[in-house]
Amino acid sequence: MRTQVGIVGAGPAGLLLSHLLHLRGIDSVVLESRSRRYVEQRVRAGVLEQGTVDVLDEAGVGERMRAEGLPHHGIELRYGGGGHRVPFERLVPGRAITVYGQQEVVKDLIARRLADGGTILFDVPDVALHSLEKDPYITFSGERLDCDVIAGCDGFHGVSRPSIPEGVLTVFQREYPFAWLGILAEVPPSAEELIYAHSDRGFALHSMRSPEISRFYLQVPPETSLDDWPDERIWAELRARLETVPGFTLAEGPIISRDVSAMRSFVAEPMRYGALYLAGDAAHIVPPTGAKGLNLAVADVRLLTAALAEFYATGSTALLDAYSGSCLKRVWRAQHFSWWMTTLLHTFDDDPYGRRLQLSHLDYVTSSEAAATTLAENYVGLPFDFGARP
Ligand code: FAD
Ligand code: PHB
Repeated sequence: MRTQVGIVGAGPAGLLLSHLLHLRGIDSVVLESRSRRYVEQRVRAGVLEQGTVDVLDEAGVGERMRAEGLPHHGIELRYGGGGHRVPFERLVPGRAITVYGQQEVVKDLIARRLADGGTILFDVPDVALHSLEKDPYITFSGERLDCDVIAGCDGFHGVSRPSIPEGVLTVFQREYPFAWLGILAEVPPSAEELIYAHSDRGFALHSMRSPEISRFYLQVPPETSLDDWPDERIWAELRARLETVPGFTLAEGPIISRDVSAMRSFVAEPMRYGALYLAGDAAHIVPPTGAKGLNLAVADVRLLTAALAEFYATGSTALLDAYSGSCLKRVWRAQHFSWWMTTLLHTFDDDPYGRRLQLSHLDYVTSSEAAATTLAENYVGLPFDFGARP
């Protein structure tokens, strides 16, 4: 088999890349180790930045997102017995976020690729990358896929990044001493906007997927087992962390999905080795507190598409050569913002000094227009040319 771009991974990065390349007349094949059902059901991100929404819309895959996604013009920071809204409409006029589940984005992209005659191979075992310096190819279950370029879009645990020879990548990382327990519940959201709650018992997040489905997260110890968290314990803890302002009552309903996610910051540089280009979680991870991971994946593949389009149209490798450096500007801004939101809102053991700093900083963010604008502009997403030098 032969294609122009061999894409490993059918997450948001790999699927969107395949679609954007198709729009530029570039052929690709997507290899995915899991089943279509699995990738379409995997519950993860929920917050799309303005730029992500625009990319999906412009690529003609935004119809359902426009119809079913929930535009939000602010978030609430809840701490110290009070709720404080960060109003995007005033601080960053014309920009907002859209709450729309990652698995819905994935479903929309798969449907569109298949309708356009694209090739996505699911349930593909034993993917291996070869000859990355020149004439690269991918092998899987006894088959061989030759390509000009390989896009490693296979997430943090994928095979692409580890295929790069030792000594090439520099890794920067930070582990956090907690995880997130996430649930989906069949109950209307208890508030119209997301609530990021700081409390002595740990962080909690009130989010949603639709007017009928709520999404919640609880800060938990990293080694947490779901077996230790029966429904009643989850609701009691959510109540204790969220019912901290007068008049707020948490609506409860059947829990339809639950998961525990590790919290990690990670960047591997550069995002390229020879003919292999890494995109999305394969190259970098942020803790989900800033809602940036999926959005970064979209920003990466947007740049990779432009670079590949230039290469196929003119033979120039200028944009391909600039790919890693350009992506990393945005990646590091999101790294900082995600680390900052995480350290601002989570409880760290035995750190009374740190707690006082958190509360002081929360007071600053909720009283200073300048500080609130910093949060708002990072949260809704900086422009795609952020960090570009003229
Ligand atoms: P993935 O989604 O991980 O996709 C990689 C794909 O590659 C997978 O389908 C995998 O099965 C496949 N694969 C792996 N190994 C192989 C192999 N060897 N061969 C073939 N295929 C392989 N981000 C946001 O922007 N906003 C949010 O609100 C947000 N909330 C989050 C909440 C939680 C709880 C979590 C865990 C994450 C959240 N994120 C959020 C982050 C976001 O989900 C990820 O950044 C996003 O999934 C990255 O997309 P990706 O395509 O790079 O990688
Ligand atoms: C979500 O709804 O899944 C979500 C929202 C905000 C975050 C992370 C996840 O910061």
